[in-house]
Amino acid sequence: MTFLFNSDAKRGAIFAEAFARELPDIAFSMDPKSVKPDAVHFLITWTVPEDLARYRNLEILFSIGAGIDQFHIDAVPASVKVVRMVEDGIVRMMQEYVTLAVLALHRDLPAYLDQQRRRTWQTIASRQASERRIGVLGLGMLGSAVLERLQPFGFPLSGWSRSPREIDGIRCLSGRDGLDILLATTDILVCLLPLTDETRGFLNAELFAGLPAGAALVHVGRGPQLDHQALIDALDAGHLSGAVVDVTDPEPLPADDAFWNHPKILLTPHIASVTQPETAAVAVIGNIKRHQAGLDPIGLVDRNRGY
Ligand code: NDP
Ligand code: OXD
Repeated sequence: MTFLFNSDAKRGAIFAEAFARELPDIAFSMDPKSVKPDAVHFLITWTVPEDLARYRNLEILFSIGAGIDQFHIDAVPASVKVVRMVEDGIVRMMQEYVTLAVLALHRDLPAYLDQQRRRTWQTIASRQASERRIGVLGLGMLGSAVLERLQPFGFPLSGWSRSPREIDGIRCLSGRDGLDILLATTDILVCLLPLTDETRGFLNAELFAGLPAGAALVHVGRGPQLDHQALIDALDAGHLSGAVVDVTDPEPLPADDAFWNHPKILLTPHIASVTQPETAAVAVIGNIKRHQAGLDPIGLVDRNRGY
């Protein structure tokens, strides 16, 4: 029985060491060419290899990242469990990034950077955290962790999810009505939704119109959730005051894209959060042990919901 690791060799070496220690009965391979296809019961990858069908005994397809939209799950045989990455390193990095982005927008960093470029020494009236309402779209592993990390700053915090949730200290909303309420009472909107048919194009002109004038956006979900032109229009019209964007469509962003030079956009190249091999190996090994014990792996994707 083999675990096939299809990602970068540096991370693979860390996985290999953990597997040798914790699951010595499972062979570990990083070489799809030399491995016997029938021996592969577990595969970890970012995108699904074209020749997936050759792994006839595959039991679990692990994503090396938190998202699985890149898998095109309908092409994965129904007998194979698809598991997204649920590990402490991804959570910690996303907490850092969103805290950085929220504080940057809260303290007018895009405007000050623009002023610096123009050699302008000018104060912008600042708001207190208690007057800056944060709304997070998605209350899963990352959305809820981000809200937890933002709590000590004193921002009024809300979150929105598909099904009703309860989190101490957070106003949790769900459904269409809940979305309208969240938008109307949010000054900094954070998108941490998975990409599905329902969330594609979700951050659009209509949604931005539901936000109060002067609101800002942090987009760390997936590029195709954002209508780029709608964001630029809302920023140029002054309805939105700024945006921190980590994911775009396409990626990489073409050199002539308007996002690069927009004075109200802080742009990063999809680095908000990155799987950390030490903690990811522990999570994957734990999931194989759960699977062998007849339990569902943590992060098992619901094919009907698409995440
Ligand atoms: P989870 O699956 O744990 O959580 C998803 C959340 O979104 C859930 O609360 C879910 O609701 C909610 N949701 C999904 N669809 C809808 C919908 N149609 N309407 C309302 N709520 C919805 O995902 P994670 O928190 O682990 O990750 C979220 C996403 O973050 C990933 O899919 C990925 O795209 C992105 N990501 C980006 C990274 C980056 O570097 N920029 C790094 C890692 C992840 P419910 O609770 O009801 O199920
Ligand atoms: C992920 C990502 O899904 O890096 O982990 O976006």
